[in-house]
Amino acid sequence: MTQRRPIVDALIQFQKRQPVSFHVPGHKHGILSGLPEEIQSALSYDVTELSDLDDLHYPQGIIQEAQLLLAEAYGAKRSFLLVNGSTVGNLAMVHAACEEGDVVIVQRNSHKSIFHALELACVRPVYVSPQWDEESMTAAAVSLNAIESALEEYPEAKAVVLTYPNYYGIVSRELAAIISLCHEKNIAVLVDEAHGAHFQVGLPFPTSALELGADVVVQSAHKTLPAMTMGSFLHMGSDRINVKKIQKYLRMYQSSSPSYLILASLDDARSYLQNYSQPDIRMFNEKRDRFLSSLRMIPHLTVVESGDPLKIMMRVDHHSGYQLKQKLEQVGIEVELADLFQVLLILPLLKQWHTYPFAEIRSRLKEAISMLEDEERQETKLGLTKFVDVTVPELSFEEIDVADQEWVSYTQVIGRIAAGMVIPYPPGIPLIVAGEKWTLAKVEELMNHLASNAQIQGDHRLESKQLSVLQQGDPVISKG
Ligand SMILES: Cc1ncc(COP(=O)(O)O)c(C=O)c1O
Repeated sequence: MTQRRPIVDALIQFQKRQPVSFHVPGHKHGILSGLPEEIQSALSYDVTELSDLDDLHYPQGIIQEAQLLLAEAYGAKRSFLLVNGSTVGNLAMVHAACEEGDVVIVQRNSHKSIFHALELACVRPVYVSPQWDEESMTAAAVSLNAIESALEEYPEAKAVVLTYPNYYGIVSRELAAIISLCHEKNIAVLVDEAHGAHFQVGLPFPTSALELGADVVVQSAHKTLPAMTMGSFLHMGSDRINVKKIQKYLRMYQSSSPSYLILASLDDARSYLQNYSQPDIRMFNEKRDRFLSSLRMIPHLTVVESGDPLKIMMRVDHHSGYQLKQKLEQVGIEVELADLFQVLLILPLLKQWHTYPFAEIRSRLKEAISMLEDEERQETKLGLTKFVDVTVPELSFEEIDVADQEWVSYTQVIGRIAAGMVIPYPPGIPLIVAGEKWTLAKVEELMNHLASNAQIQGDHRLESKQLSVLQQGDPVISKG
């Protein structure tokens, strides 16, 4: 255990000297800022690559030390601090592992940043469908069987890209076996562990992908550890992927003016995790158990647990997650997301001395649920996408880029090839990606989201009920 936080310590030392700024950023330690006072004072730490403050892209001082401490905390061969979210980690990891035209096996319910990475790297994705998890009512992990089939059909695959856990904390029990299978064939396993930066704490949290043998793992420290938004980690578990390539793409995709506030918060988050003790874990478990038991006594409310103790789902009979979320907001409870069935809460990874107003939260929750009684009842039909085990897009990224597009009514898209993504957000998992065919199940799922007033990102004009598809003609049908 170490109490060292080299970036935090250097910033404190820097500020003590009360230096005068003739450098970027232009707010000059916050003096010129019109932001509220609390933010303005934090800006005195929002500095740039001055002497003693090192350089994220070529670290030799405090950032290098912070990254070494990070690798030690996670048992990684190399670790990197990211200031542009897991998004940038995913872009760099895929690009570093694959050459243009490579076949890459990808979990179909990946985050949009993975799809963007595939497109930027010009690879040939083979999508492997996840299994449906009845408990959480979400698309969860891919099975070992599905990966075996994909590898049999595409033995030339260069990498397998998986998400572990899913947004709701559901973890695959087969990840270790999948990794072994891939490694037998010398195929790299890249894991988007955006929601698992805290797994390193150990039980009762699931085993981390890094510990299970993954080659590269990307984590949004900001999602579950006390790091600032966009603060993330990238870890390398083996030498299968060239570290120089990872560094090259991180330099390309990340800002050349990385935020020291984010870097310091990552340094602090690593220290927080590294010093999370057994008494902390015991206290966390006790508080969580008490909270959940108290919630289970509220009529009409169902609480569902997932593999990750930080995540819980709440459902109210005859109402959608979107309706529940709206009522919760009215009583001042902001949840992580809503879907057709439920809302998702991310609990705080409390230490012994922290307090959280669980009793107050429970009473507000009861109030929100009683408000729902006056709302129209909504029964959500399960029109959810039935993924086919292994699929490839109908067209390659280049073919999609040059193909003509047209806007058609969403009642007429079945059988047509999508020209862009349609993404219910959150969780940000595309319902369809460019090059895939619209099916009845996908249109029904979209209808369900729309009927529940869900937010839908992507290439659509849903306000005028239109979706963009490729023009029908004689497109070259590619295998990849
Ligand atoms: C599974 C998954 N991967 C990647 C990301 C992107 O992470 P970030 O917001 O840190 O860029 C998200 C964001 O929600 C996510 O859910």
